[in-house]
Amino acid sequence: MTGTEAFRRRYGPWAVVAGASEGLGAEYASQLAARGLHVVLLARRRDPLSALADRLAAEHGVATRTLPLDLARADAGEEVAGATADLDVGLLVYNAALSVIGPFLDCPLDRHLLEVDVNCRGPLILAHQFGRRFAARGRGGIVLMSSLSATMGSALIAHYAATKAYNLILAEGLWEEWRAAGVAVTACAAPAVRTPNYAASAPRGRQRAVEQSSPRPSPRWARDPRSCLGRATGLRPSFCAA
Ligand SMILES: NC(=O)c1ccc[n+]([C@@H]2O[C@H](COP(=O)([O-])OP(=O)(O)OC[C@H]3O[C@@H](n4cnc5c(N)ncnc54)[C@H](OP(=O)(O)O)[C@@H]3O)[C@@H](O)[C@H]2O)c1
Repeated sequence: MTGTEAFRRRYGPWAVVAGASEGLGAEYASQLAARGLHVVLLARRRDPLSALADRLAAEHGVATRTLPLDLARADAGEEVAGATADLDVGLLVYNAALSVIGPFLDCPLDRHLLEVDVNCRGPLILAHQFGRRFAARGRGGIVLMSSLSATMGSALIAHYAATKAYNLILAEGLWEEWRAAGVAVTACAAPAVRTPNYAASAPRGRQRAVEQSSPRPSPRWARDPRSCLGRATGLRPSFCAA
């Protein structure tokens, strides 16, 4: 059996990518489709999801399903469960995030709480939901998007970094709990990658510096066997470098 076949058998036939409309999530979806997995593409914006679904179907011959949904919604878990109940899902990538950058007190509390909904409550609900499904079938994998910022408190991203630490610690604990049941869990502590939103969310006057200092998202980033998808084959969650 080739590595691709083994990957598909363990983590396929369907993968759910939450936050798939652009940036790293679109790249995850592309790399998974290239490995022959059918993909559920979830994000708020319908049009980029449809365009990506069409491209992946044409390029890789995989089936796709789009799920336009705001993960901050109180009923997001039920929506995802309903939209995927008929699919044999083997992999969840929770990539969506709200990235608030700037002085902590300049951001209204409501927005900080929204950040908790998208970055913490969302992965908790979907990890619980798909973890049950994967444990019942005895195989599967979950990738939670963390960040290098999760390792140390930093000014201007104090709360965002705290939400990313939540994902890192949750993934490490679940990796330990579920690995004997055949379910791999990993956190991807990515470094800065120049995605559209990353560049747009730079503090005013810093966009140019961000543009110049950050590497571009690269297909290699998600394809490299040392990256998180490679690690999702059962190794301990760990940092991955671009
Ligand atoms: N870029 C970096 O330098 C970097 C570094 C470390 C970690 N990360 C992490 O990597 C992940 C992806 O980063 P990125 O730069 O590619 O982010 P991005 O460009 O902002 O993409 C985030 C994705 O999530 C979706 N999304 C955002 N809010 C959502 C919501 N409420 N409900 C449903 N979908 C939502 C967005 O689509 P819609 O707008 O269509 O909903 C988009 O598809 C994030 O978790 C981020 O924290 C990024």
